Amino acid sequence: MTARIYFDNAATTALDPAVLEAMLPYMTEKFGNPSSIYSYGRETRLAIEMARKSVAKILNAHPAEIFFTSGGTESTNTAISSAVRDLGCVNIITSAIEHHATLHTVEYFQKRGEAGLHFVKLLPSGQVDLNDLERLLSTLPGKTLVTLMHANNEIGIITDINAVGLLCKKYNAIFHSDTVQTVGHFPINLRDTPVHFITGAAHKFHGPKGVGLLYINENVKIHPFIHGGGQERNMRAGTENLYGIVGFAKALELSTANQEKDAEHIRSIRNYMMEQVRKNVKGTSFNGDPEGNSLYTVLSISFPKTEKSEMMLFNLDINNICASGGSACTSGTDQGSHVIRAINNDPNKVTVRFSFSKYNTKEEVDLVVAKLQELV
Ligand SMILES: Cc1ncc(COP(=O)(O)O)c(C=O)c1O
Repeated sequence: MTARIYFDNAATTALDPAVLEAMLPYMTEKFGNPSSIYSYGRETRLAIEMARKSVAKILNAHPAEIFFTSGGTESTNTAISSAVRDLGCVNIITSAIEHHATLHTVEYFQKRGEAGLHFVKLLPSGQVDLNDLERLLSTLPGKTLVTLMHANNEIGIITDINAVGLLCKKYNAIFHSDTVQTVGHFPINLRDTPVHFITGAAHKFHGPKGVGLLYINENVKIHPFIHGGGQERNMRAGTENLYGIVGFAKALELSTANQEKDAEHIRSIRNYMMEQVRKNVKGTSFNGDPEGNSLYTVLSISFPKTEKSEMMLFNLDINNICASGGSACTSGTDQGSHVIRAINNDPNKVTVRFSFSKYNTKEEVDLVVAKLQELV
């Protein structure tokens, strides 16, 4: 079997060995329940609070604003539910290209009659139309939640969350941003970003799966989201995912320390792939705005639809190349991507997302492009 090529890093990333090393003692000798008062508990409590402090420092937030969760989905569910149920939001503004963690949650509240749902217009690149956002904010009566992602996981487009946050401030709206694809990949300074909630997931930046971040701005007061104990300052009961939390902090520390270097490497890989595809694979186009304000990790390519290209993901997989059609959560279903449908509903195209990490190489790109030439 030839070596596998992993070009699906927006779905998840490989655990960094240094992160595993930081986690291991908390799976072995340091096993105490962080709520226990004796030494075993005190050492694990300390580890959690040091992790919180470290994450808060990197994001320029206060430790009391950082909550550890099970991942991006839980964090987003919590932010939206709290905005509706605790903060009195009766309207929700979102976009058609959000992750399903957002879309399915806002649809749930709409169906239950707990909030009205409004979709902001998108520009052809997928960028949020800020004029339309202001129009919605200025016309909707009652308190509004705006939930717009920082970067789209399928096409990589980046939203100016400062501009959105300032509009929200002007109209006294609550602002949640799904920052799952940008935490650990871009500097985030929460002191200077007018946002009430942001989210993160360690497995997107070489940390462990099943651990996430919910930032709740200190001016926002919500009710506990899991009941049954005093953990996470009474907000999220249950014995903490100790080694996950330690891994989250370590992964964020490493990705922050190496951000510029890793970004430069990953961007060069992505740009090389764009160049090679342009040169060698006919009839292709790139979704989003890869040469503009975009994730450097993601390249979304539309290929002309042919009998062969329709089987593209399957054929790539047979050749040990891992990529995806949409987000990981929709792969395996045949509905296609809601993101691609929203921005570029061309039935004669087949879209594949390639996404890169610090572990990828140009040699891998050459192998993939050669295979794409065959498959289109
Ligand atoms: C933009 C975005 N939001 C939310 C999620 C959900 O994160 P998780 O799988 O950690 O719950 C993902 C990843 O799948 C994502 O890419």
